[in-house]
Amino acid sequence: MHNAAFAALGLNWRYLAFEVDPKNLRAAIEGARAMNFAGLNLTVPHKLLAVDMVDDLDISAETWGAVNTIRFEVQSPKSKVQSSPSSEVRAVGFNTDAGAIVTSLREDLKVELGGAKVLLLGAGGAGRTAALKLAAENVAELFLINRTASKAEEIAAEIKKQFPSVKVSVGYPKVEIDLLVNATSLGLKPADGSPLDEKQFSLKQTRAVYDMIYKPAETKLLADARSAGCKIANGIGMLVHQGAQAFEIWTGRPAPVAVMRRAAEGSVYGV
Ligand code: ATR
Repeated sequence: MHNAAFAALGLNWRYLAFEVDPKNLRAAIEGARAMNFAGLNLTVPHKLLAVDMVDDLDISAETWGAVNTIRFEVQSPKSKVQSSPSSEVRAVGFNTDAGAIVTSLREDLKVELGGAKVLLLGAGGAGRTAALKLAAENVAELFLINRTASKAEEIAAEIKKQFPSVKVSVGYPKVEIDLLVNATSLGLKPADGSPLDEKQFSLKQTRAVYDMIYKPAETKLLADARSAGCKIANGIGMLVHQGAQAFEIWTGRPAPVAVMRRAAEGSVYGV
């Protein structure tokens, strides 16, 4: 999707994928800096490790405690005088994942998050970021469910402290809600069932369902939700928007989001 975006804007840039062992992450970042890369994207498990390996953290990375985007910035001439060539370039860490969640929810499901009641499944890395970001968007009520309940309890406590106006609880809602979000990894494998316990909560009680999983395109949860008449979306929009925001960070140009989405869908679904 990045290469399609570069081509659309006539930029002579390239986006390449490298598999890096976590023990070599620092060396890989230094190598990219030395080779005058414009920036990097990082994925699991590097997002947390990179926090301690960049020179500066943008507010987004500081807030979410994870770096998925690095921009290499040339320092101003006055501070360059005594530095070695590679130390003239600073590595700045950003996080574009959290913003992408809400952009995709708004764009793909047209949900108004302010004042909404939301059930969130999952309290791993993605679940924690989603929970805090939804709270920051002023949802009215947040219900958290996780296989390991203690992790959901920890996130609930964090939200109570940081966002006292948001009503947060661990457990299934007894009321009708606006949105259900899956942030667990259950659904990635073809044999996986749904992460939702329908004995505890019926899909008829929610208007919309978002599954962060984008492959398969329709998980068991989304298929069930469709049958129940819910509005549904998978996580391809999140993938596209975290990329589009990274593209803007590196290039300073508005990302051609539609081009990126078409390229991502073509690559993931072969359409
Ligand atoms: P990510 O970075 O994608 O969030 P993660 O931090 O490993 O990955 O989190 C995976 C999430 O999926 C967790 O909420 C996990 O539940 P636990 O905290 O109990 O491990 C959830 N998950 C994974 N496999 C699951 C399963 N078989 N049933 C229910 N939840 C599952």
